[in-house]
Order: sequence, then structure tokens, then C-alpha cells
Amino acid sequence: MTATSSPVQPATAAYSYADYVRAADTIRAQISSRPTVGLILGSGLGSVADAVQDAVRIETHTIPGWPRSTVEGHKGQLVIGQLDGQSVCVLQGRAHFYEGNTMLQSTFSVRVMKLLGIETLIVTNAAGGLNPNFDTGDLMLITDHINMPGMVGFNPLMGANYPEFGPRFPGLTVPYDRELSALARRVATAETLTLREGVYVCLSGPSYETPAEVRMLRIWGGDAVGMSTAPEVVVARHAGLRVLGFSGISNKCLDSIDSNAETTHAEVMDVGDRLIVPALVRLLHGILSDLPPVAVSAGGQP
Ligand code: HPA
Repeated sequence: MTATSSPVQPATAAYSYADYVRAADTIRAQISSRPTVGLILGSGLGSVADAVQDAVRIETHTIPGWPRSTVEGHKGQLVIGQLDGQSVCVLQGRAHFYEGNTMLQSTFSVRVMKLLGIETLIVTNAAGGLNPNFDTGDLMLITDHINMPGMVGFNPLMGANYPEFGPRFPGLTVPYDRELSALARRVATAETLTLREGVYVCLSGPSYETPAEVRMLRIWGGDAVGMSTAPEVVVARHAGLRVLGFSGISNKCLDSIDSNAETTHAEVMDVGDRLIVPALVRLLHGILSDLPPVAVSAGGQP
């Protein structure tokens, strides 16, 4: 099934502000709490949502305008409930650009969560390790990103601006919140978890990188590479959300054509389940438990 064959898919990829409001209203009608923290979970990391208590689970294909997630390991579910004292809205199953979604579609969830009331967005992904010091199973705090699709004409903020969400030309000098990143480091230390740090490179995918591309991305300053997250962060920052991001290193990027190994989706999922999820769950529990309140509530409420 392709993204455009969903019965709830809009005829064109463009959304009006009312489309976001309609999706948020549909969700709000099914929940009693106002979520303040959004979590978007990457490939193989969806089981983090199992820990949510008093959970209302909404299949995303029942929400008007919501694009389809067709990837194995991406369930297409919103889980809204309580986690470590926080009201959370967890998205299992992103809609990726490589599935044929537009950038507006792949970032639809972020704006809907914003309208639901979230002030903080935590994004996670499975990523290939570019940094040769990283090992499979490592967690990386995302300190900055390179949004490659955005640099070549696929920025999610292109087209009409939505002033209800944010300004035409938002700054991105601090894409990932400093205070939240400091909290993540403190929690990692307390939990005796090794937390790597680095720059996440977003490519469109779905093919993995060639060895020459891997070497190029290293020269650019990339530490991890994946096929998501950066567009969501751009849209989140545009809407004034504070963002925290983690990559789970599911594989080491192969930098030589003489390598006999090959990165596979099965490997990415397996490492996610076995190594990344347990560590990420501990880290997220600690962070949510200690999350400071937001000083100034961002605008954009309906
Ligand atoms: N490259 C791109 N995306 C990925 C990778 C990778 O090596 N691993 C998991 N997602």
C-alpha cells in the first residue's frame, strides 16, 4: 500500500492549518490528559511505548491527514498516557520521506503534537555509526544535525509559512536544547550508561550509503547517519518546541568497497531490540523523571 492510497490521505500534499487542527481535535476527543512531552521513536525502538501507563492507543491511520508508515518495525500508533510523572504522547512509526511522503507529511505528527500541547519533543532514531570510535549498540546524544534533504530543496518549511506555528525564517543555531542535553548527560552518568555525542546526518534513503558517501559524511563532520529526525526537528524548532535527540547506533557504516559486510534492515532492527532499547529506556526514564518545567509556554495553541 502506498502513502497516497490511504483513505484519509489528503488529495494533495499541502495541508492547511485547519488540517492540523482537525487531526489534533480527533485525538483530543479520545484522551483526558494534555500531553506535554512528545516522543518519536525510530526503527526497532518502538517498544519504549510499552512502558506508558494509562495508555490510550490510537492507530494513526484513523487520524485525518495522517500519512501512512509502511516500514517494518514502524507500527503507526500514537500512545498517549503517563510515563515517569510526565504526560506523554509517543509516536511509534514515523512516516518517512523515502516512503514517498512529502516533507510536510513526514513532519505532520510534530505540528499535531504541538497543537495537543506538547512543549518538549524527544526524538530517537536508529543510525549508522560514521564515527569510527562508535560501537554497535552505542547511544549518541544528538548535539547538531546536517539536514541534507533540506540543503537540496526538501526543507519541510518550504512553501507557505504557517504563522500560527512560527516565523518565516526561523533560526536554528541551537537546534537541540542545551538544558535538556545537560540533563541527558547527568542521567547517563547516574545510570552508568555511556552516552556518545555528535552530529546526526539526515539523508533521504532508502538505500544505505556507499563507502565513498560514508567517507564524505565523515569529512563533513557527521558522527551518525540516518533517514529521519532532522526534518522533524526543523518543524519542532519552528514551532518553538524544545528538542532532545538520541541516535541508537545500530551498525557501523562501511567505508571500504573491499568490505564483504552489508548493512541490512534486519540488523538495524535486531540491534535496536537487543542493545539499544534497554539502554534507551533507562535513559528516557531518568530524563522524564527529572524534566524541568518549561519557563515560557510556546505559542501556536488553537
Ligand atoms: N545509514 C542510514 N540509515 C541508517 C543506517 C545507516 O547505516 N543504520 C540505520 N539507519
